[in-house]
Amino acid sequence: MKRAKVHAPAKINLTLHVTGQRDDGYHLLDSLVVFAPVHDTLDMNFDTSDLSMTVEGPEADGVPTDMANLVLRAADILGEHLAAHLTKNLPPASGMGGGSADAAAVLRALLLRTLPPEATLDDIVAQLLQKIQALELHALGADVPMCMLNMPMHVRGIGEQMTPLGGIPPINALLVNPRRAVSTPEVFRAMTTRDNPPMPEIPTLPDAAALIAFLKDMRNDMQVAAKAIEPSIGDVLTTLERTPGCGLARMSGSGASCFGLFADISDEELAKTAQTIRRAHPDWWVASGPLGNQFSLGLPTFS
Ligand code: C5P
Repeated sequence: MKRAKVHAPAKINLTLHVTGQRDDGYHLLDSLVVFAPVHDTLDMNFDTSDLSMTVEGPEADGVPTDMANLVLRAADILGEHLAAHLTKNLPPASGMGGGSADAAAVLRALLLRTLPPEATLDDIVAQLLQKIQALELHALGADVPMCMLNMPMHVRGIGEQMTPLGGIPPINALLVNPRRAVSTPEVFRAMTTRDNPPMPEIPTLPDAAALIAFLKDMRNDMQVAAKAIEPSIGDVLTTLERTPGCGLARMSGSGASCFGLFADISDEELAKTAQTIRRAHPDWWVASGPLGNQFSLGLPTFS
């Protein structure tokens, strides 16, 4: 197999509680993570004796193509050579996984390349979980392990403790980014409280309305600090909150991307709503679709 194609779906933190800080400075998180049907795409050619990459796409501006790009560092960690072509649809440094999601997609493809074709979904998840534990992936980016699995999960520690969740109901969402890159360490530094209450165990959630009701009592503890650094986050949240049918608006990760959740909206109505926001804010990045399990979307194909 000389080639692989793999998608890197956007990661969304439906909750993000910051519950402490380790001695090495990393923050302890407690987060409900899901994935969205919007993604970057990586085309990889393994028939090379080098490590190289090219980037194109609507969000390609400023994306490095040298070893500063996590895509190449991910391949290097596994000692692999490849020529990668990245189609960048997700805004970088936006709280949706960014470079970590791209690196995770490369690792997913490289690690699943040797699995037999009859491998089941359970075999694939087991293989990924085992490799995630064996490799020191946090050096690449704290979101890399969760983006490798790209399924709904409860994440703790600094991102390395992942409990996949079966029972999250899919929910329609608008994703909006004001196209302002936000520095994660800067937001962590600006936070005034680092020992917030953790999330309770996630109860059985029968439908989207129950999910929204549960999420309303939860938080993104980075939101206040991120909004102070990047006020356009406040504009995005206000716009989402004022959108008819929006049950909850919140920031993902360290921002600046935000999501609005809709328990009861047709796909057509959701697409129209996204178009209305795009027209009113042509400089914003806007996407829409169901949040939930994007595991299949992230599976590589080989040729
Ligand atoms: O996700 P990434 O590893 O790129 O995070 C960038 C920086 O954010 C880290 O170097 C660290 O300073 C901070 N961080 C943190 N606690 C986490 C994740 C990231 O303090 N759990």
